[in-house]
Amino acid sequence: MEVAVTAALPGSALDRLAARAQVRVRRERTRLDPVALADFVGEADAAITLLADPVTGDVLASCPKLRIVANYAVGVDNIDLEAARARGVWVTNTPDVLTEATADLAWTLILGITRRVLEGDAMMREGCFEGWRPDLLLGTGLQGKTLGIIGYGRIGRAVARRGIAFGMEIATLARPGRTRTDPPARLLPLEELLAASDVLSLHCPLTPGTRHLLDEAHLRLLPRGAFVINTARGPVIDEAALARTLADGHLAGAALDVYENEPEVHPGLLRRNDVLLMPHAGSATVETRSAMADLAVANVEAVLVGKEPPTPVVRGKAPGSKGRE
Ligand code: GLV
Ligand code: GLV
Repeated sequence: MEVAVTAALPGSALDRLAARAQVRVRRERTRLDPVALADFVGEADAAITLLADPVTGDVLASCPKLRIVANYAVGVDNIDLEAARARGVWVTNTPDVLTEATADLAWTLILGITRRVLEGDAMMREGCFEGWRPDLLLGTGLQGKTLGIIGYGRIGRAVARRGIAFGMEIATLARPGRTRTDPPARLLPLEELLAASDVLSLHCPLTPGTRHLLDEAHLRLLPRGAFVINTARGPVIDEAALARTLADGHLAGAALDVYENEPEVHPGLLRRNDVLLMPHAGSATVETRSAMADLAVANVEAVLVGKEPPTPVVRGKAPGSKGRE
């Protein structure tokens, strides 16, 4: 059995896998386009892919032996799921193990932007701190304010739990059939949710329905002085519209971990000190990144021995339904 892995992964999971399968790890850091990805995966039985690897229908068609794409991420927007389903290829992701780390980063961003940590740090390093003053570097308090959360799944709820600990009111989207949530949140239609959110944090997947969900009209429904936090996927926000709503003072700040055209950032967001930027690091702790590797490898191992993988997104051919050697 051959497993193609598009980058070295933290922890020891790949070493363990190498004891049971032939493991090929890509060492170059350049981004893979579909042709190069298909070329790299080639005749492999399994692939472990990163969130920017474009697993298109053409890639799947060019890799006829592939039985599983184990994405090293919770998001799977880089994969053509319909094509995988049609070809009977399993797709798996890495949920749960990254929930707390990502919620922690969302809160790092919320606290960092509302308490102006970047500006404070710069002031210290530039020797501009002249001593305590009553009006020095005033930020925005969170207690009693509303934290709006779009995407009330595992990560969104972990962010809400922290919000409750910080004394915030939690609100999320009303949905058919959703009468109560855990933790409890006010359930509002999108327009009302936006209008109520002093801080809006995104935790939804990127789908055709969430692309540019925060366009200019929706950003302007947020209260004047609101903050926008994105640790989900960049294209959920129209970045040019975000830059405009910051520039004209409608929003008080934005803190982003993900970008519409990653790794690029809209130039209107750079050099603003009401914007805090991180390099897509929501799950970036030593503990979480090795747990993600363990889970991706567990998914691969299961499929290669004809068992059900632990965290399927798309079900592939039923174990044992096809006599491949
Ligand atoms: C990171 O963005 C992930 O989807 O795991
Ligand atoms: C809530 O915001 C959801 O997307 O389910």
